[in-house]
Amino acid sequence: MEKRINTRVVKVDPENIDYNIIKKAAEIINRGGLVVFPTETVYGIGADALNDEAVDKIFKAKGRPQDNPLIVHIADFNQLYDLALEVPEKAELLAERFWPGPLTMILYKKEILSDKITAGLNTAAIRLPVNEIALALIKESNKPIAAPSANTSGRPSPTEASHVIEDLMGKVDMIIDGGSTYIGLESTVVDMTGSVPMILRPGGVTAEDIRSVLGECEYDPAIIKSDEAIIPKSPGQKYRHYSPKAKVILYKGKTEKIAGRINEDYDKYTSLGLKTGIMSTAQTEEFYEGKINICIGDRTKLLTISSNLFKGLREFDHMGVDVILAEAVDEKGLGKAIMNRLSKSAVETIEV
Ligand code: TXA
Ligand code: MG
Repeated sequence: MEKRINTRVVKVDPENIDYNIIKKAAEIINRGGLVVFPTETVYGIGADALNDEAVDKIFKAKGRPQDNPLIVHIADFNQLYDLALEVPEKAELLAERFWPGPLTMILYKKEILSDKITAGLNTAAIRLPVNEIALALIKESNKPIAAPSANTSGRPSPTEASHVIEDLMGKVDMIIDGGSTYIGLESTVVDMTGSVPMILRPGGVTAEDIRSVLGECEYDPAIIKSDEAIIPKSPGQKYRHYSPKAKVILYKGKTEKIAGRINEDYDKYTSLGLKTGIMSTAQTEEFYEGKINICIGDRTKLLTISSNLFKGLREFDHMGVDVILAEAVDEKGLGKAIMNRLSKSAVETIEV
């Protein structure tokens, strides 16, 4: 067993940041420790990206496979030139439009970023977040900060400090509680090393958004087809992911039909003695009256669904549910990212 360390949990109001706490957090980063901090997407577990020993601690705390590279977070656009070997004009245009924000760009890396952080790849993932606490911490520590999502590997990413406490208490030096994250799903990862930008992981910045700036944008074929033979370009996408302890079943099709089938399956699983929960939406909640269900948002406001999805999965775990029956959403805009996470957490998808 890893030795447990003393974890300090501190609240910081993003509207009125206590810079004494940020100073302490930056000191931890600079002496090679781990600080969990909020971003606009999910909480991140941060370490000095230029310190291999510190980065190694991230892998250990998360139980993350060594072949899955980390995202490097910066606070100032110009830091990009210290880390990337070349910055194509298209990347500059995207940065201008979407940074700070939920966009991570894959670029050829400079020597300064070690194999530890990039898992031996010659590229690195770089992002400039918008959350003020994250920005203050990166600025104060004066280092690029490596930060994957602050969950145990494989579990749903944390969207509030309580989720981080569940997974990482005793494994990090500090957890900064800055309230609930805004988007609730990890950033869009886009590969900028080819002639056409390619989305490796869908997120808050959509393909449509990128096309509106650059005219073109493709998806890595591995995230469109769930064909095991296609190897994803983003190592992280090959692992089963975002998984609660319960088994997730995903239902695709017309909303009312889905609801009908979910009701049938709920009764079936319940009669088998399995505690079952339904992840519903504002439009379907009424169909499940009397059944265990968590409404995660409104289908016409996908941000409500993205921000509640991981929290909902974790809540079902707290309830001790064995099976989660989840409704699909339309794969438009943010729906693409929601469906990517749902598909990865599900053990089975049923087309109704
Ligand atoms: O929103 C986010 O991006 C959050 C917050 C904390 O910023 N971070 C996050 O990190 O989601 P993580 O480590 O959970 O996901 C990083 C993803 C993984 O799928 C990884 O494989 C991919 O980015 N990635 C990192 N470096 C890469 C590279 N050089 N080439 C391709 N994919 C890369
Ligand atoms: Mg992650």
